[in-house]
Amino acid sequence: MGETISQRIVEALPFLDRVAEGVQPKVQEAVEAGGTTARNVLDGVWFEVPLHPVLTDVPVGSWTAALVFDGVDAATGSKAVRNAADASLVMGILGAFGAAITGLSDWRYLSGGSRRMGVAHGLLNTVGLALSIVSLILRATGRRNAGRMAFLAGYSVSGMAAHLGGELSYHYGLRVDRNVFEGTGPDEFIPVLDEAELPDSGLRRVEVEGVGVLLSRSSSGEVCAISATCNHFGGPLEQGDREDDTVVCPLHNSRFDLCSGQVIDGPAVFPQSRYETRVREGKIEVKAAAENVQEKVV
Ligand code: FES
Repeated sequence: MGETISQRIVEALPFLDRVAEGVQPKVQEAVEAGGTTARNVLDGVWFEVPLHPVLTDVPVGSWTAALVFDGVDAATGSKAVRNAADASLVMGILGAFGAAITGLSDWRYLSGGSRRMGVAHGLLNTVGLALSIVSLILRATGRRNAGRMAFLAGYSVSGMAAHLGGELSYHYGLRVDRNVFEGTGPDEFIPVLDEAELPDSGLRRVEVEGVGVLLSRSSSGEVCAISATCNHFGGPLEQGDREDDTVVCPLHNSRFDLCSGQVIDGPAVFPQSRYETRVREGKIEVKAAAENVQEKVV
C-alpha cells in the first residue's frame, strides 16, 4: 500500500503514538464500562450504520451554514442573519461533541498507521472545536470580528481533520464492510462437505470458489452458512466461540446469528453475507443468497 501525503506527515510525528498509548486503553475501558447496550449504541449496531459519519454531518453542515451567515452578516449587517450565524455555530459545537464520542469509540480498535492517523484527526478536531468555542465567547462579549476570525481558523482546521477522517475510511477501510471485497460465492448449489463431517454444535470453515464459508448446524438441525470472515475487521469466525445459534468473533467480540448473519452485538454493524444450503446425497451444498450477489463494478 503506497503512502499518501497525509500518511507521510503523520508518520513523521512520533508523539502521536505516545498519545495513542496513553489514551486508547482509557477509551477502551470507558466504553466497556458502559456495558453491551452502551457499546452497541456507540458502534451504531441498532441503526445498522456506523454512527460517527452520520453525526459528523451536524458540525460540518452547521458550521458551513455559520460561515455563510457570517459572510452575509458582514456584508449586510442583518441582525436576523447574525443570530442565524450564532445559532448555527452553537448547533455545530453541540454536534461536534456527539461526533467526538462516537469517533473515539471507533478509534478504540485501531493500531499502527490508522491509529496514528486517528490521533491526528482527533487532535485537529479538538483544535477546531476549541476555536469555535472561543469564537462563541468572543461573540458573546461583543468582539464579533475577532469571533468571526477565530471561527474561520477553526473551520479551516476542522476541514483538515475531516480530510484525515476521509483517509481513515477510504485508505484504511475503517468501518467498511469487509465481506464486500470477497467473491460472492457460487450462484448454483455446489457440494462443499460431507454432512457427517459437520458436528452438531461446532463450526466448520470451508473454501468455496475462493470464499471462506462458515458452516454450522442450528439447534433445530438446520444447516446454516455465513461468511467466515468477520465484516468488521476480517476476524476468522471459525476460531470464535459459539453461543447457542450465534458466533462471537475472536477479535473484538461482534456476535452474529449463524443462520441469518444478522448482528446481535457490535462493533460490526453490517450482517454477514449469507449462503443458501441444502443436503443432497449426504453432501452439504451451498450457493450465495440472492441478496449478496452483486455485479462487479468495472
Ligand atoms: S474483526 Fe472486529 S469484531 Fe470481528
